Amino acid sequence: MICKVGIYGDPHAGYDGSQGGVPSAQVAESIVARFSADQRLFDVICLGDAIHNQAEDPWIEHSRIVSGLADERRIYALGNHDVGGDNGIPGWRLATMSGGNSRVRSVPGASFLMLDIPSNELPLWAIAEVIDFASSVPPGTFAFICWHAPYYTTGMRGRAKALFELVQEIAVLRIDAVFSAHVHAYERYEGAGKTPYIVTGGGGGMPHELDANEDTPAMLPIRRAAYASYNYVTATITRTADVLRCVIECFDALTGAKVDELALDRSQYLKPGSGTTKLDPDME
Ligand SMILES: [Fe+2]
Repeated sequence: MICKVGIYGDPHAGYDGSQGGVPSAQVAESIVARFSADQRLFDVICLGDAIHNQAEDPWIEHSRIVSGLADERRIYALGNHDVGGDNGIPGWRLATMSGGNSRVRSVPGASFLMLDIPSNELPLWAIAEVIDFASSVPPGTFAFICWHAPYYTTGMRGRAKALFELVQEIAVLRIDAVFSAHVHAYERYEGAGKTPYIVTGGGGGMPHELDANEDTPAMLPIRRAAYASYNYVTATITRTADVLRCVIECFDALTGAKVDELALDRSQYLKPGSGTTKLDPDME
């Protein structure tokens, strides 16, 4: 194994959104404990809603929950409920939901483009950032994109349809998977261009009902997995002689039971100086 990254979303520090279900802190603490105990974990990505803006002092509560994870190992995308809190986390750049920002995090074998974009409006810079990112990721390594509100979901709060053009662009680029949260459940889709779209927003906010929005009939044929409870994901990268493999696994946040697995291969692993720039975008 050369690298492992933990990914979760919507821990909602301080408030679960409705004060129903398991307390948000209990779920997030369970996830962070599993991440903290895993010596192989390289970085931890939070896909937004680290806090809930209706809670009292939510950043203090968030800091308490993640205290077992080193600051420099935590990476954030902006969620709607993060807006309105104070800017107290190292490395966190609070953006406005209409302005937004982006950054790239590279780990051994993969790079993650973190986009702070809203669900109801596609900023023009986002497409430019995605194109730039796809062309700059080192050959033979994985290219992943993260943002908060999913384009594909049957979650009751609906899909981020405004991101249509972004998804169409990703379909023709060398992007291996897209991770989102916002919907408090797990879903995995085969999206445009056969790009995997993974929703993992089960980090603490009260679970959302699936198969519940108006686009559900159109979503079900391309959905490959679903789990309507608290969850988190890991991405584990290994290398053989000529194949770089990333196994994406989803686990129940409370029990740790595995609920889904997807393996991606970069079958044309290019060694430095191999003299070709042609890439095989296909994956299983
Ligand atoms: Fe949320």
